[in-house]
Amino acid sequence: MTATSARWDHLLLDATLATFANEQPYGLLSDGAIALHDGQIAWIGRRDELPADTSSLARHVEHLGGALITPGLIDCHTHLVFGGDRAHEFDLRLNGASYEEIARAGGGIVSTVNATRAADEEALFEQSLPRARALLSDGVTTIEIKSGYGLNLESERRMLRVARRIGVALNITVRTTFLGLHALPPEYKERRADYVTLVCDEILPTLAAEGLVDAVDAFCENIGFSREETRRVFERATALGLPVKLHAEQLSDLDGAALVAEYHGLSADHLEYLSESGAQAMAAAGTVAVLLPGAFYALRETKLPPIELLRKHGVATALATDCNPGTSPLLSLRMAMGMACTLFRLTPEEALRGATVHAAKALGLNDRGTLEVGKRADLAIWHVRHPAQLCYWIGGSLCRQTLLAARTGSLHGGKTCV
Ligand code: NIG
Ligand code: FE
Repeated sequence: MTATSARWDHLLLDATLATFANEQPYGLLSDGAIALHDGQIAWIGRRDELPADTSSLARHVEHLGGALITPGLIDCHTHLVFGGDRAHEFDLRLNGASYEEIARAGGGIVSTVNATRAADEEALFEQSLPRARALLSDGVTTIEIKSGYGLNLESERRMLRVARRIGVALNITVRTTFLGLHALPPEYKERRADYVTLVCDEILPTLAAEGLVDAVDAFCENIGFSREETRRVFERATALGLPVKLHAEQLSDLDGAALVAEYHGLSADHLEYLSESGAQAMAAAGTVAVLLPGAFYALRETKLPPIELLRKHGVATALATDCNPGTSPLLSLRMAMGMACTLFRLTPEEALRGATVHAAKALGLNDRGTLEVGKRADLAIWHVRHPAQLCYWIGGSLCRQTLLAARTGSLHGGKTCV
C-alpha cells in the first residue's frame, strides 16, 4: 500500500486507552491502538490484532510508549466570555462578605455585565480566547459557553458571536447557551416582569433565529429568578425547539431540578441543595447532574452536593469548570476533576466519566465522549499512563497533545497541547 492509498489518516500505537466502552474500569484497553480517519475513530483494538508491519496502514503512524489516551475532555458549563474580572470581590469575600451580599449591593454578576457591555466584539474576543486556550491546554476539546453578561439584545448577541468565533479560531466545538435570565439588569430593577417578557418575546427568539443559540439556561435562585419566571423562558425555548438546562439548587432549594426535569432538560447544574425528589425527577427524565466544584471551592461552600442520592437514583453525573469571573475563575477541567474527588468524594473514574461520557450527554452530543468506532476523533494524549493520575496530580502540564477531529482529516492532528 502506498502512502496515498493508506487506509487511515492516523494510527496511534502502544497506547493505554480509556475507552469508556467496555466492562473494565474506565473501559481500559492496554497495549491498544487507535486509527483515525476523516475526523472519526475508524478502528480501535489491541495492538496485536494489527499486522506487525503497520507502516502502510496510515499516512501517520505514531508510537506512544504506553501513554494514556482519553476522549477529549468536554467542559459542559462555562461562562468564559466576559469583560473585566472580579478579583476585588475575591478580596471582599476573604474579608467576610458573602456572594449574596455582594450581589445584593450591586456587585457580582451585574458588575461583569457593566464590563461586558463596555467591551466591543474584538475586545471581548481578545479577552476570552486565552481562557479557552487554557482549557484546551489541559485536554479539553469541546466547550459550552453561556451568554448572560449582556442582558440586552445587542450585548447578548455579541457574547454569543464571540463564543462561536472561539470555536472557529481553535477548531473545536463550542456549544452556545443563552442565559438571559442570569441577573436582573439595573435598568429593569423595578420591572422584573418586563425584563422576563423582553427575554422571552424579543431577545431569545431573535438570537435563536440568527442561529446563535444551541440551548437555554436560567439562574433559578432567590438572588436570580423564580420558578415561575424560569418556566416562562422554558416555555419559549420549548416552542422554539431548543433544549433547556438550569442553574439549580446552588444556594437554596427552589425545586429547580424537578422543574428542568419536567421539560426533559439536558442538565441541572450546581445542585448542592438538591432534594431526593429532585434527584428522582432527574433520573426519570434523563437530566444530567452537572457538578461544579470550582464554585463550591471559591465560595467556600460547606453544603456538599448529595452524591449518594445521585448514585442511588442512577443520575448521570457530569463535571465542569463553571469558568466565570465571580464564583469560579477556574481554567482547568482536570483541576475540577481532582476537586470533585477530594471535596465531593467522587471516584477518579466517576470524575473522568463526568468530564467525557456524561458531559457529552449534558450537551446532547452523542457523537463523542467515548473511544469507539464512529465517534468523533477528539482525543487527549497524556504524559501519564493511568487515568486516576489525571485526578491525582494537582496542577502541572499533563496533557501531551490533543487531536481535534476538525483537523485530523487534514494533516498533523493539530498539536494544541505543548
Ligand atoms: O454559575 N450562579 C450563577 N452564575 C454563575 C456565577 C456568575 C458570576 O458570579 O458572575 C455560576 O456560579
Ligand atoms: Fe454557572
